[in-house]
Amino acid sequence: MEFLKNHIMPVRRSLLSVPTDNRRALEKAPGLDCDGVIYDLEDSVAPEKKAEARDNLANAFSREFPSQQERIVRINPLESGFEEDDLKLVARIMPDAVALPKVEHAGEIAIVADMLARFAPTRPIALWAMIETPKGVLNAASIAANGKDLKCLVVGLNDLRKATSVLPQPGRAYLVPWLMQVVLAGRAYGVDVIDSVFNDFKDDAGFSAECVQGRAMGFSGKMLIHPAQIEIANRHFGPDPHSIKEAEAIVSAFERPEMRDLNVINLDGKMIERLHFEEAKTLLAQAALILARKKSP
Ligand code: COA
Ligand code: MG
Repeated sequence: MEFLKNHIMPVRRSLLSVPTDNRRALEKAPGLDCDGVIYDLEDSVAPEKKAEARDNLANAFSREFPSQQERIVRINPLESGFEEDDLKLVARIMPDAVALPKVEHAGEIAIVADMLARFAPTRPIALWAMIETPKGVLNAASIAANGKDLKCLVVGLNDLRKATSVLPQPGRAYLVPWLMQVVLAGRAYGVDVIDSVFNDFKDDAGFSAECVQGRAMGFSGKMLIHPAQIEIANRHFGPDPHSIKEAEAIVSAFERPEMRDLNVINLDGKMIERLHFEEAKTLLAQAALILARKKSP
């Protein structure tokens, strides 16, 4: 399994948003099986509660948390409600990343990256950009190309629908071209892509269908609003038993000594190329990472 070491990438199937003014939710978050927690200081927190929310967040980061959970702090956009105090707190608690909402230009990422470097000079903190405005979608490629320290694009459909008047329809019909534009932008520049939240947290069937669609479109995972959505997102965005078996067959076929000089093979009537071999190794690495997480306390 030596090859696994070269194929490790963050697993981001499920990223739960937790309002930082909600102490109960903050307490629960580290015990949940989500790949990441987005600690929200933006839309879910009323301006009058911001100071209290920052205290809650500082407390939450002083407690134990599972090492495999990625921790992201979502601040306010530069254009509205932005507070330097949020970044000063970020520099104290050192999350894995800061999520900047409503990003429309790469310059905004550069501004926040520079401020973060000033407040937290010892270790870089990654940036995530929320793409949730018409200009954000139109400029997704240049944001992904030029965003300093940018690791992830997260689509926000509540804001995008509001700004564009696109109705919520089955299959997100009129939104698909924009979603795919964000996927393409992220993938072109090695920036991960996360699908939007799904508001109706009691509708498991509707949520499952949207996860299947998001996975098929190329997203790595979904931003979530409720713990009930975690297991479903993990299942749909993680490798399923059938694809694991298929990947194992591809890897063992290509690793046979007689295959060393071959770039294309016939595996049970299917053409398999070296790119499928690479894909299979990545999938197995992801499966191994998920399995290791389950075993760790
Ligand atoms: N993170 C952690 N725990 C959460 C949670 C979240 N996002 N949402 C709910 N929970 C917890 C509740 O605290 C409750 O815990 P308990 O039973 O142990 O007390 C349990 O899950 C069940 O919650 P439920 O009663 O079904 O929902 P609710 O009425 O408490 O909350 C929402 C519903 C929508 C208000 C809440 O899920 C929420 O605030 N979600 C995030 C919203 C957000 O971040 N928006 C901005 C990004 S779009
Ligand atoms: Mg938003």
